[in-house]
Amino acid sequence: MPTQTDAGAGRVRRPSVTDVARLAGVSVGTVSNVLNRPDRVAGATRERVLAAIEELGFVRNASARQLRSGEITTIGAVLLDIANPFFTEIARGIEDRLAVDDLTLMLASSDENPDREARYLRLFAEHGVRGLLATPSHGSIDALLAVQDKGIPVVLLDHVSPVPELGSVAVDDVTGAGLAITHLLEQGHRRIAFVNGPMTLRQCVDRRDGVVQTLTEHGLDPAEALVELGVDNLNADAGAAALDDLLDRPGPRPTAVFCVNDLTALGVLRALREHGVPVPEEMAVVGYDDVSFASMLTTPLTSVRQPMHTLGWTAADILLRSGAGEPEQVVFTPELVVRASSDPAPEARPRFGLAATRRGGRIAGWPR
Ligand code: RIB
Repeated sequence: MPTQTDAGAGRVRRPSVTDVARLAGVSVGTVSNVLNRPDRVAGATRERVLAAIEELGFVRNASARQLRSGEITTIGAVLLDIANPFFTEIARGIEDRLAVDDLTLMLASSDENPDREARYLRLFAEHGVRGLLATPSHGSIDALLAVQDKGIPVVLLDHVSPVPELGSVAVDDVTGAGLAITHLLEQGHRRIAFVNGPMTLRQCVDRRDGVVQTLTEHGLDPAEALVELGVDNLNADAGAAALDDLLDRPGPRPTAVFCVNDLTALGVLRALREHGVPVPEEMAVVGYDDVSFASMLTTPLTSVRQPMHTLGWTAADILLRSGAGEPEQVVFTPELVVRASSDPAPEARPRFGLAATRRGGRIAGWPR
């Protein structure tokens, strides 16, 4: 069976479903269907995938095969909030990858609460899950390292691992926030509100860094150009309350709002509608995630797209290949999708392609 060596890493690894999809020029979901539900795939496509499987010598994950022998067939995932469509789509990506090897998913929300996270980590370990995917609820990953020390492999999701022994899959949120702010600056905005969550969340810290860096790079003083609106929860009600607060403030009103995620942006749009503020004419709005509802709103939402399904799939794929060399740490670069909430003449297609940096070790230049 041919094996592959990660570029620049010199390690050997088995061809993965993602490798098959790339060679065949199809999605990983299509490969999954060819393996599990071939009748759902058109003949020519099925042949292309089978040829790629043959050429790469892909075989289903041996460790998963062992799992199917009745040992352990469950993978646990502790995400921040499965009521957020961002994580729902991620969970679907995880599930689709596990289905390739007839494995099942056990899902929980930490609600950004370290104690709740710790309880689920204990429950999943007691349940004897084969592996664990987790979005850390706060800065520390010590509890997750402790789980891995018990022999349960862990992969971080939506979080760049600060240590080489933990695999991880994330998005470069500093760049993502920079895409949003650059777009608003290009539209002529010079005073921008920023709805952001607690600094205990890595996503909020990185997105704020991206905002501040981009304003500075464009010669603007963040203290002048930025109006920060802090929220405790990253949901629609918190976004609406933040916008109500902004509209009650005296002084010159910002002409744009950048929101840390699409749920808060949904609340901001609702509040602007209730106050009769036209979007984008008097207030442009940009969100983050590009969840499914973003394009369906009365005023479709400009958003920084995260590859949600691929994040979930890739994290599960890394987990199922754990033990075969140093854990991988993948960082995707997000893309900006411009729609009517920020541009009267939107191009509703990504302006920047999706890319990923895959390394067995740490990402070159990536902050520890
Ligand atoms: O969980 C809060 C946010 O962080 C989500 O909406 C998504 O953007 C994640 O990265």
